[in-house]
Amino acid sequence: MKRVFSGVQPTGNIHIGNYLGALKQFVELQNDNDCIYCIVDMHSITVPQDPKELRKHTLDVAALYMAIGIDPNKATVFVQSDVPGHAELSWVLTCNSYTGELSRMTQFKDKSKGKESAPTGLFSYPVLMAADILLYDCNIVPVGNDQKQHIELCRDLAMRINNKYGETFVIPEGRFLKEGARIMALDDPTRKMSKSAENPLSKISLLDDESKIKKAIMKSTTDSEGIIRFDIVNKPGISNLLNIYSSFSGITVQDIEKKYEGCGYGDFKKDLVQVTSEALRPIRERFEDIRNSEELIIALKEGAEKANAISEATMSRVKERFGLGIGK
Ligand code: AQP
Repeated sequence: MKRVFSGVQPTGNIHIGNYLGALKQFVELQNDNDCIYCIVDMHSITVPQDPKELRKHTLDVAALYMAIGIDPNKATVFVQSDVPGHAELSWVLTCNSYTGELSRMTQFKDKSKGKESAPTGLFSYPVLMAADILLYDCNIVPVGNDQKQHIELCRDLAMRINNKYGETFVIPEGRFLKEGARIMALDDPTRKMSKSAENPLSKISLLDDESKIKKAIMKSTTDSEGIIRFDIVNKPGISNLLNIYSSFSGITVQDIEKKYEGCGYGDFKKDLVQVTSEALRPIRERFEDIRNSEELIIALKEGAEKANAISEATMSRVKERFGLGIGK
C-alpha cells in the first residue's frame, strides 16, 4: 500500500479548479492507498486572514472533503495546526534551503508582484509544504500542476538531507492529472482560477448555486472566432471551458468538439452550465448536513491523533540524524 498526502488551504471556498485538479484524485486514491488529507491552515496565514473567517473556512473545507466523498474511515483527515510536527520540521528544512532556490518559485513571484516587501511566510511557504509532505513518509502527492515546482523543491530538500545526514526521508512523487490539471479563471483564461481572486465571476465554488454557476459560465471570456475548438494558445477561454466540460462529463475534448461542430458559444455554454450544475448539486446537498454534524469534529480530532503519531516518529528520526535534543 502506498502512502498518499495532500492538502488544501482554507483561504475561501474550494473552487472547481481545486476539485478537478486535485481533490477528485483524493477520492479515487482512498480505496487502495493509505491516504492522509490535511487542511493546511498554517499556509493560509502567509497572507492576512480574519481569524473568525479562517476557522469557518477550515471547517468548511473539512466538510467539503467529506461532501465530495472522502471517507474518514478510509483516509486520515485533520487540520495542519493540530499537528506541531509541521512547524518543527519546517524549521529544520528551512535551515537546509537557500534563498536563491526559494526566490525562483513562480507562486512567490506572482503573489509578491509589485510589492516592495513581502511577508517572510509567503517566501518560505514551499518549505512548509515540503515539511507537510516529508513528515508522513509519503510516496504520492496528488496536486494540480501549479504545484509542480514546489514538489520538485520538496524532493530536492529530501535528497539533500538524505545525502548529508543519511537516509531520513522517503522521496515523494507528484501525481498530476492530464485533464483538469489547471483550470483557468473564467474572466481571464491566462490566469489560474484562484480562491482569493476578487472577481466572484472568475471562479465557481463547489457551493455556488445554479444561478451563480450560470452567470459565471455565460459571462466567461472567450474569443470572436465562434468555433468550438481546443487551442490553448490562440483560444485559451474556450479551451478552458472544454477542459471543464470534459473533466466533469468524462467525455474527451475531441468528442465534445465533434458534438458542437457548427454550434455557437451560447449553446455550448448553456450545456456546460447544466453539466457543471449536475456535478455540483449532490456535493452542495451533502455539505450542509456534514458541516453541522458532531461527526465532523470527531473525525478531525481522531485524524489529528493518527497524524501526530506518524509525525512524532518522523521527528524523532530527524532529531537523531541532526543531533537535536538530548537523544534517546
Ligand atoms: N486553477 C487550478 N486548477 C487546477 N488545480 C488547482 N489547484 C489550485 N488552483 C487550481 C490545486 O488545488 C489544490 C489546493 O490548492 P491550495 O488551496 O493549496 O492553494 P492554491 O494552489 O494557491 O489554490 P488557490 O485556489 O489559488 O488558492 P489561493 O487563492 O488562496 O492561493 C492544490 O493541489 C493545487 O494544485
